[in-house]
Amino acid sequence: MSVQRIKLNNGVLMPEIGLGTWNANKEGILFETVKKAVDLGYRHFDCAKFYANQVEIGKALKEVTVPRKELFITSKIWNNRHRPELVPGALDEILEELQLEYLDLLLMHWPFASRLETNSPEPPLDEMDNVPIMDTWKAMEALVDSGKVRAIGVSNFNKDILQKMLPQCRIVPAVNQVEIHPYNQSFELVRFCQENGIAVTGYCPLGGEMVPVLEDDIIKQLAKMHSCTPAQVALSWALSRGIIVIPKSTNELRLKQNLEKVALTSDELAMISKIEKHKRKVDPVRYVKHLEWVFHEDKAKCPLI
Ligand SMILES: NC(=O)c1ccc[n+]([C@@H]2O[C@H](COP(=O)([O-])OP(=O)(O)OC[C@H]3O[C@@H](n4cnc5c(N)ncnc54)[C@H](OP(=O)(O)O)[C@@H]3O)[C@@H](O)[C@H]2O)c1
Repeated sequence: MSVQRIKLNNGVLMPEIGLGTWNANKEGILFETVKKAVDLGYRHFDCAKFYANQVEIGKALKEVTVPRKELFITSKIWNNRHRPELVPGALDEILEELQLEYLDLLLMHWPFASRLETNSPEPPLDEMDNVPIMDTWKAMEALVDSGKVRAIGVSNFNKDILQKMLPQCRIVPAVNQVEIHPYNQSFELVRFCQENGIAVTGYCPLGGEMVPVLEDDIIKQLAKMHSCTPAQVALSWALSRGIIVIPKSTNELRLKQNLEKVALTSDELAMISKIEKHKRKVDPVRYVKHLEWVFHEDKAKCPLI
């Protein structure tokens, strides 16, 4: 099965379906999963330093026979490496773990920095670091010049942050990776990104393990009508909006199904647009109030650009 590619703002082609790898190494099965995924037609792998499983992915990629230039590998700089002097080393560590010479896409995982010694995704105030986003971004721009990354982008960036950032960028982010599924549709953010040449990748496109998108009556009804799975409906809905999707599965049948798109009519897409619930799987503000500006755009006051 071959997956269509979307042209990023610098001409690099990115497969519109990739494999999510967060939490994908339970019982050590990620190595086999990656190899199986390549056999099934996956060429795009969504990785991150924070997922602590890039070594397994790297070992598997080393064994596949598909040429490197056909693969599309994304990874993400973690919050504790935002200081510009730490950024080149952070990329080198990622490349070493993945056993790669270059990445296709490097993302800033979150729009806030934490201190080097913390790994917490929701750092308390005294573990935050005062690093302006643009300082990290400029260091990432230099990585493109070095040839070690083909494209750079961001993740979990809201419209307000992007609006402040864009006039200062030498390289406009190629991608913004954010949570998108039928219960968190983010129409305004997606429109803003797409109008400004920033491709959108939807993470948790199935709602993850916590948002019951696949149990929704409308999604199930549409799946029945198209003789497909609820997951295929959710993924096809996102793809129809020009959104790249990165579902995670370690199950062979589901890996295969997740590559198979179904054609939803405009009426069916409209039915899905009505089931929005603004329900996120990932939201650090559940744990720490001081990160409220990250997702709650009406209060968006990114303190450090
Ligand atoms: N940038 C960020 O901050 C960020 C945050 C979160 C996630 N991500 C990325 O996005 C990827 C996807 O998000 P996610 O892993 O949280 O959630 P997801 O892909 O929405 O959902 C994964 C869950 O759905 C199940 N599943 C997969 N295919 C299915 C199917 N066809 N039918 C029924 N269930 C199915 C999986 O179980 P099985 O494995 O058993 O199939 C797993 O429990 C992550 O892996 C990661 O790469 C990025």
